[in-house]
Amino acid sequence: MADQAGDPLFQSHDPIFDRKELLHVGHVPDEERIVGRDDEIESVAAEVGAITRGDPPNNVMIYGKTGTGKSLISRHVATRARNASRGNDVDCGVLYVDCSEANTETRATRQLALSLKEGTGYEGNIPVRGVGTMEYYQHIWDVLEAFFDAVIVILDEIDKLDNSNILMQLSRAREAQKTDAYIGVIGISNKVKYRETLDERIDSSFGHRELFFHPYDASQLREIMRNREDAFQSGVLEDGTIELCAALAAKKHGDARKAIEILKEAGELARRTGSETVSEDHIKQAQEVAEINRIEELTSGATVHAKLALYALASHIVTGERETYKTREIYERYGSVCDLIATDPITENGLYRQLKEQAFLGVIESEKTGGGRSQGSYLLHRLVTDPKHIVKAVRRDSSLEDLPTYDDLAGTERATTDRDADLSSFS
Ligand SMILES: Nc1ncnc2c1ncn2[C@@H]1O[C@H](COP(=O)(O)OP(=O)(O)OP(=O)(O)O)[C@@H](O)[C@H]1O
Ligand SMILES: [Mg+2]
Repeated sequence: MADQAGDPLFQSHDPIFDRKELLHVGHVPDEERIVGRDDEIESVAAEVGAITRGDPPNNVMIYGKTGTGKSLISRHVATRARNASRGNDVDCGVLYVDCSEANTETRATRQLALSLKEGTGYEGNIPVRGVGTMEYYQHIWDVLEAFFDAVIVILDEIDKLDNSNILMQLSRAREAQKTDAYIGVIGISNKVKYRETLDERIDSSFGHRELFFHPYDASQLREIMRNREDAFQSGVLEDGTIELCAALAAKKHGDARKAIEILKEAGELARRTGSETVSEDHIKQAQEVAEINRIEELTSGATVHAKLALYALASHIVTGERETYKTREIYERYGSVCDLIATDPITENGLYRQLKEQAFLGVIESEKTGGGRSQGSYLLHRLVTDPKHIVKAVRRDSSLEDLPTYDDLAGTERATTDRDADLSSFS
């Protein structure tokens, strides 16, 4: 009897999620769940599409902030191109390399050779170690020559590669008579700055188009999440929760991955607290956690001084009346924060450079303001996110956990409202 009922320690039925895998970070959605990127899909297809007719493709570089669908759309278009090629009797391969893992030319070419070989019946032996880049290239040309008319190579996170020689090799292969197969490269980066380094390092042989993917707006994020509503048991998501989640994510970053993560986290929260539905409150709480995580990720590579600069700006905003502060004002506050934790401050100019870096990461926005005829111009900095999240994220750095908390900073205000609340409960 007890057997049939199962162990009560483990619920047999998840009250919140039905197909939770739809919300997992690594989940690749089916074609019909991809929304809001029709123009981008067409643009990528226009560059590499000639391959499907047996003609030479263009190379393309895709730029855009994180979570804007670059990897997803590239793989989607490449797969469709391969299928369309088949219909035209063109043997087209698709290769995907994550250059954040295969971050050297040797690793990247080894991965290309090994995945190209897969399923072809190629008899050459491709050693996993002990050989150099040239040997891997040779295998690539040989497999291409024997089994393919064309190949689409996706080099994701291409800025992580230690050099861009691979772009030159792939784009010159036909010209250098290494192979007759057409090679179309899709390079992907979330660092727009990569363009500048690319221009310097690469010669005209990698003639390529550039596409920019923009952050999703609220209505696109809403569609993306609506398409995965079946991750939840029916009736669990309260009215308005997806709309709220989309609005919050669009306001902050327009990152689809983060929006989906918030939705999932909200579901976890509901489950943990024994709620039968996911409410707007769950979304708001999940969003806060996600935002602190995001700031922590963004600043994870930053120096302690950059974090202290952010903290100083946040503390100004919490205790002051304004939303924007001058470099000088931030520097002064930064000085006293350094005193608090007995750290030697860097120079004002050094701090200014740290702030610029943060502006690049999108944690703050800096705007030049004319200070009138005699004063010259100066920069005003504002936080892109809630100061509370900055304070929490900065204090997660173990060397900075002794800094005053958000509640400490907001202390005076809070103390009075708390007292008011206490008093009113007696009346
Ligand atoms: N248009 C879309 N339709 C449905 N889901 C999407 C869409 N765009 C993104 N997603 C979801 O968001 C996740 C992140 O997208 P993707 O990995 O393509 O972002 P990215 O631009 O490559 O980001 P990064 O620069 O961080 O690598 C995808 O796995 C997918 O689940
Ligand atoms: Mg990506």
